[in-house]
Amino acid sequence: MKILVVGGNGTLGKAVVEKLKDLGHEVLVAGRHEADVYVDLTLPESIEQMYATVENIDHVISTAGQTTAKPLVEMKPTDNQLSIDSKLLGQINLVLLGQHIINDGGGFTLTTGVKKDDPIVGGASAAMANGGITAFVKTAAIELPRGLRINSVSPNIVEESFEQQKDTFMGFTPVPISKVANAFVKSVVGQQTGQEYKIYQ
Ligand SMILES: NC(=O)c1ccc[n+]([C@@H]2O[C@H](COP(=O)([O-])OP(=O)(O)OC[C@H]3O[C@@H](n4cnc5c(N)ncnc54)[C@H](OP(=O)(O)O)[C@@H]3O)[C@@H](O)[C@H]2O)c1
Repeated sequence: MKILVVGGNGTLGKAVVEKLKDLGHEVLVAGRHEADVYVDLTLPESIEQMYATVENIDHVISTAGQTTAKPLVEMKPTDNQLSIDSKLLGQINLVLLGQHIINDGGGFTLTTGVKKDDPIVGGASAAMANGGITAFVKTAAIELPRGLRINSVSPNIVEESFEQQKDTFMGFTPVPISKVANAFVKSVVGQQTGQEYKIYQ
């Protein structure tokens, strides 16, 4: 399969790209810097430009999308906007614009995260984006045309990110990144749609 991984240079993205390549898939990495294809998810015209640049894509993965981590009492609407523009609408726009572009029988796999199910201080904005993506995926699955599928992966904090965020995720047990990458593989090569793969343990 030919797979476009938006955010494929990031922590999760690298692990997903490596696993897909090991399985013999052709992978293109998209992002704002040092990518095969340039895209800024926060700009719909940039997503359109990305899709105009690539050809013959079977599956689009997003391991991208920024969020604001800030205690609720300090959070301003402008802080929350990053999570909306990037992780929530950025990923949704990948699907809205890509549904007409990718190959018949192809699909999308988006990323959410544990913060929506296991609340932590400063996590509300990310949780909002994560929950919105989960609901969108479940509903979009019944309407996508041409046999296209869609799933999401909701990872716990991974071992590679834990040290940097250990104060935020105190008491959490990080998960191996290979388990998270496997969930993306399952979404790409399997036949399920409308699913959310929670990798919390
Ligand atoms: N790491 C974890 O433990 C963990 C756990 C649960 C959920 N998540 C979620 O998984 C996602 C990825 O996390 P990560 O730790 O892998 O992050 P990361 O290491 O910061 O990587 C994010 C990737 O996304 C790209 N990106 C960011 N903003 C973008 C934009 N506006 N347009 C296009 N590309 C963009 C970045 O590349 P450029 O800078 O080149 O654009 C980068 O390659 C995030 O939404 C995060 O909330 C992560």
